[in-house]
Amino acid sequence: MIFLIGYMASGKSTLGRSLADRMNREFIDLDDRVVERCGLTIPEIFTQHGEDYFRGIEQEVLFALAGTENVVVATGGGTPCHPGNLDWMKKHGTTVYLKWEAEELYRRLIHDNTERPLLSGIPDHQRLDFVRKHLQAREAFYHQADVVLQGESGSAEDTVNQLVIAIQSITR
Ligand code: S3P
Repeated sequence: MIFLIGYMASGKSTLGRSLADRMNREFIDLDDRVVERCGLTIPEIFTQHGEDYFRGIEQEVLFALAGTENVVVATGGGTPCHPGNLDWMKKHGTTVYLKWEAEELYRRLIHDNTERPLLSGIPDHQRLDFVRKHLQAREAFYHQADVVLQGESGSAEDTVNQLVIAIQSITR
C-alpha cells in the first residue's frame, strides 16, 4: 500500500488518483470511507459526534485496510497525527508526505470550497497564522514519511513521475 499524507489541500486525493492510474492500482480515499461508514458528511460527523468520534472511525477504516495490496490511499490531513496511525501505515506500506509551505496551503484553502470543520471556526484574518502553527505541529508526524515530496510548480505528470521513481527506489 502507498499512503499519501500531508496537510489539508496538499493534493493527496488528486495526486493519489493519478499515481494509482499510473501504477495500475486501485485508489482509496480514506475520508470517503469514513463518510460511507457513517452515512454522514465530514462536517456532519464533526458537529453531531465531535472530533474524537471522527478519529475513532478514521482509525477503524484505516486498520480495516490490512491485507489490501496494490492500492494508493489518500489519507486525511490529521490521520498520521492520531496515536498509532503513522506506525501502522509505516508497517503496512510506504508513506509519502506531500510537502507545501503554509502560505501555499493557505492560498489553496481559500480557493477550495470543501467544508473543513477544523478551519470553519477560524476567522479569515487568523487563518494564515493558524495554518502556519498547525502545519508546524503536524510536521513532526509528516516528516517521518518514507518519502518527502517537495511541492513544486511543475506539471502534475512530472510530479507523478518523480514520485514513481522515489517509491520504486525504496521498495526494491
Ligand atoms: C482533517 C482533514 C480532512 C478530513 C477532516 C480532518 C484534518 O481531510 O479528514 O476534515 O485533521 O486535517 P483533507 O486533508 O483531505 O482535507
